[in-house]
This record gives sequence, C-alpha cells and structure tokens, in this order.
Amino acid sequence: MASAAGRVGGSTSNIGLLMPVVGVVGLASAVLAGRRAMHVDWKDFAVRFLTGPGRTSRILLLIYVLLNTKSLPGAWTIRVFGSMIRHAVQLRKPLPPKALFHYSVTRSYTSPGETDYNLHKSNSTYFSDLDVARSQCVMHLMAPGFDKIRRNKQLRIVRDPAGAVAEGSLGVALGAVACSFKKELPPLAGFEMWTRVLAWDRKWLYTMTHFVAPAGKVRPASWDGGSFWASRGRVATVAAGEAELQGRVVASAVGKYVFKLGRFTVHPTYVLEQSGLLPERPVTGWRGGEADVHAEVELPAGAADLADWDWRRVEAERRKGMELAGHFAAIDDAHALFDGGRDGALGQFFPG
Ligand SMILES: *[C@@H]1O[C@H](CO)[C@@H](O)[C@H](O)[C@H]1NC(C)=O
Repeated sequence: MASAAGRVGGSTSNIGLLMPVVGVVGLASAVLAGRRAMHVDWKDFAVRFLTGPGRTSRILLLIYVLLNTKSLPGAWTIRVFGSMIRHAVQLRKPLPPKALFHYSVTRSYTSPGETDYNLHKSNSTYFSDLDVARSQCVMHLMAPGFDKIRRNKQLRIVRDPAGAVAEGSLGVALGAVACSFKKELPPLAGFEMWTRVLAWDRKWLYTMTHFVAPAGKVRPASWDGGSFWASRGRVATVAAGEAELQGRVVASAVGKYVFKLGRFTVHPTYVLEQSGLLPERPVTGWRGGEADVHAEVELPAGAADLADWDWRRVEAERRKGMELAGHFAAIDDAHALFDGGRDGALGQFFPG
C-alpha cells in the first residue's frame, strides 16, 4: 500500500507480490535470530550490560532507543507491513453489514524524535502514523476482498466496460491525504487514531481518521470483534456528550485509495462486495454505466435513520460522507496549477 501523498503508482503498491516476499524474509530473519538467541546467556548478558564499564552511556542509549522505537530507521516499514501482514495472514470472520462504516482504533504515542521546537508532536509526523492507521482499517475490512480480486483471472469478478476480465496484479495506491490540526500533542502522550470508511465514488475509496487523545478515554458502544485487546475489558458505552467527544479530537485527516488490476481501475464496490460488506442493491446494483447511478437514484425519506442496514442506509451514509470527500477530491486540480516558473522563481535555498 503506497504511503505518502503523491506516491501514487509507487513501487510498493503491489501487495500481491510484496506480501509473500516480506513474509518469507521476515520469517527467515526471525528463525535465524531465534537460533542465535538460544546460544546467548541472557542473565550474564544483562548483568554485564547494566554493570560493566561504560554502563551509563549504554543505559541512557537504551532508554533513548526505547522511547523512540517508532522513530528508528525501518520502524515505519515494520509498522505498515506488520498491519498488512497481520490482516492478510489472519482473514477476519464475516462482519455485520453495519460494520462497513465502523472505526478501527490504532494506538500510538508521541516519541521524542517526533517532537518539534514547540515541544509538541510535529505536524508533519501525523502522516506516517496515518499510514499505519489507514492500513489497519482498510486491510481489516477489505483483505478478504483483496484476496479474491487478486485472483481475478480465475474468479472473473472484475470486468472492463466491454465485458473482458481485467487482468494484472492488484495494486492499492494512496492518491491523497489532507490533515487538519486542532490541538497539540505533548511528548510521550498516548493517542488513538479512529479510522473508518468515509465514502466512495466510481474511482476512489475515502477514509477518515480522527486523532483522539488521551488514549483509552473514548470507548465505542461495542466492538465487532477481531481484536485481542478489544475483547478484553475495553467494552463500555460512550457516556460522554458531543462536546466532550469533540474536545478529544486533536486532528482529523481524509485519505483516498484507488484499487488497480494492472492498469485497470477497479470500482471500490467490487472490493467492498467481495469483502462481504455491501448489502444487495436491487435493480441498479452498486455500479452505474455512463451516469453515476449512485447519486441519481432518489432515496426514500428517512433512509439515513433506518435501523436495518440495507442498501438505502448504506447509500445514505455514503452520500453523507461524499459531501466532505467531494471537497477533498478537488485537491486533484492542484496539479494543473504548476507552470514550472514561466514567470520566474525566487531562488534555490539551502538547507533543504
Ligand atoms: C501544528 O498544528 C498546531 C495545531 O493547529 C499549531 O498550533 C502549531 O502551530 C502547528 N505547528 C507548526 C510548526 O506549524
């Protein structure tokens, strides 16, 4: 899953190929490390580490490394690939239809390495945390669908407008991210990222992530299951009012993904359907022809409040999300503003 904004079509977008490679390399290193670790006298090692010559600098370095684990080289890769592998290896059980718009909650903290001159989490570092949170949400919900669409050549699910089966390897690429900052996070503060599907159109699947702090204060009414921690004592109803909930939001970010089979863009509803997340939509189905069937069909009054998560409730929720996602989609027009300094430029400056 490509990460930073603008890395669209980057080399890391092919999960189909990447996963087995990362898996094999990871497993091999773990086995090697495990075999070596068996020959180490750990007690002796610990005593020498803590009492031997030069212990002060060693202990200080250890503390520094422990506080900064998420900022170490390679940590981002481990976090993002870890989230992808976790959900690809252990495909989740079927979810109730309402789970499509439910949050996935990912915990993290502000490491000293992320702290800026104001002694707060630097605004630019929100984006690497977002990569992990989005990946957890999208992989948890959609790994079953990716697994099927990856084998489209055999399963013949996705077809181009002429009816031919789309071929090529599955790519999931991030098209854009935007983050709005509201409050600061101090160093070593725990926070949570609450990520959910916001909406989708014919090309993009939009996600919404709220940074919530302090961690562990806001609890959902229930968990759909899946998480080890979620099933252990964190279930409590939200007693907080709207004002209190909003007060906990530190930042909010929107992201958008595109799914590809080779060069063919896969309509997001293929992925959602194959993940068992979309109710059946009679007559028109979820994909229109020329016109966007999504927006043109009139919904019955009160569709947004239906207790039953049938297609009308899902569609009402999607349209609500699109009101915000539509503005965000307009950022794409930004590329067209670049004119290469036709009228001149200020200069080139160091440091960069
Ligand atoms: C980051 O965002 C916060 C919250 O909006 C703001 O107070 C702070 O000035 C920003 N930091 C920088 C370096 O712009």
